[in-house]
Amino acid sequence: MTGATGTDGNRRAVKWMSIVGARPQFIKLGPVCRAIDEHNRLGRAPLIKHVVVHTGQHYDHEVSALLFDQLALPKPTYQLAAGSGTIAVQLARMIARLEGVVNQEKPDWVVVYGDTNSTLAGALLAARMKFPLAHVEAGCRSSNLEMPEEQNRIVADHLSRLLLTPSQSAEENLRKEGIGVPGDRQRKRVVVVGDVMYDALLQNLGIADKVADAALEELGVEAGDYYLLTIHRAENTDHPDRLQTILRAASSLELPVLFPVHPRTKHVLTALGITPNGSVRCVNPLGYLEMLALSKRARKILTDSGGVQKEAFYLRVPCVTLRDRTEWPETVELGANRLAGDSVESIQEAVFSTKQVNWSQASPYGDGASANRIVCELLNPFAVSVTAQAS
Ligand code: UD1
Repeated sequence: MTGATGTDGNRRAVKWMSIVGARPQFIKLGPVCRAIDEHNRLGRAPLIKHVVVHTGQHYDHEVSALLFDQLALPKPTYQLAAGSGTIAVQLARMIARLEGVVNQEKPDWVVVYGDTNSTLAGALLAARMKFPLAHVEAGCRSSNLEMPEEQNRIVADHLSRLLLTPSQSAEENLRKEGIGVPGDRQRKRVVVVGDVMYDALLQNLGIADKVADAALEELGVEAGDYYLLTIHRAENTDHPDRLQTILRAASSLELPVLFPVHPRTKHVLTALGITPNGSVRCVNPLGYLEMLALSKRARKILTDSGGVQKEAFYLRVPCVTLRDRTEWPETVELGANRLAGDSVESIQEAVFSTKQVNWSQASPYGDGASANRIVCELLNPFAVSVTAQAS
């Protein structure tokens, strides 16, 4: 492999390629772009050339372009327009289109984020073409191998050279799989950097607060007097009984339940002929800023999204997770999050029960400066088996 490292004027330059494609990845990319910009602006060496590749897994305005806009992300250098399809079709399109791009750019690092099909495509291609791979949000596990995301995470972690974890427990998960343990012959490096979505939240909350009144008014709800619901995981959307149970429980709640409907969920509801009723108010997917603003002001949040569980936690809003397990166990251990079970009654019970949360102890995901650590670690690719603390 020939790296792209060279010079730019008098300054040595390196090239990193971020591969993203789905909504949560755009959010994770934001702080990394900022940290790279800051590094370059301060004239630090080497100059970092950052190539952003959008696989096109998400393409609707509300889940793609709107986020690029709100997060002030650079326009992607490459748009692969892979779109939707079966896993085989989607993955094949991504990998085929990535091949030429990676060959042309020859990055010093390929960086993948989270656990989506775009993560899987980027990881497979980089590893097969022998480009160094770094995984942001490494080590998360739900212990449910049926989840596409769990499969994607495991593959990405086992192919990565640099594993950047959001928490100590994620690091432990990797060690249990033999990654980064003494004697690891692949000399992978595992570093606890904290959660980059926390960086994003801290960077954007002030702006989100400015759009809060307009968002509340437009959706016809009062701060503190509504629940916020999101559902999009295949384990819920692909099981009509489970989806109906969640919607029945939500529709019976005593306050309005705002339900921004994800494209996947919209397709399923239409196909099944389900129209949520009772307290549930369906709305279009929200921008990142509106979602933060409405999350912060919700009485409680009901969700199957990993990112939304963490955002609820950072915003100190109680969360009910519409799944049997979570990749974010600390939120449950600290009493801020409850797993809902799979009956109408257990979901209602999870919503109505309250727990005392000791927020002062609650910082398992770092201090909101993860992106700077990510940049430092990517600039230090030759050290082996270093483990750092997040805070
Ligand atoms: C993906 C991720 C999930 C992440 C989520 C965030 C995987 C396996 N899952 O799920 O981990 O939490 O993104 O949103 O990668 N669709 C549209 N418009 C779009 C995108 C998708 O209509 O812009 C529809 C299509 O019918 C598509 C379906 O949604 O078939 C599902 O899309 P998919 O690519 O599987 O990703 P998500 O379900 O969004």
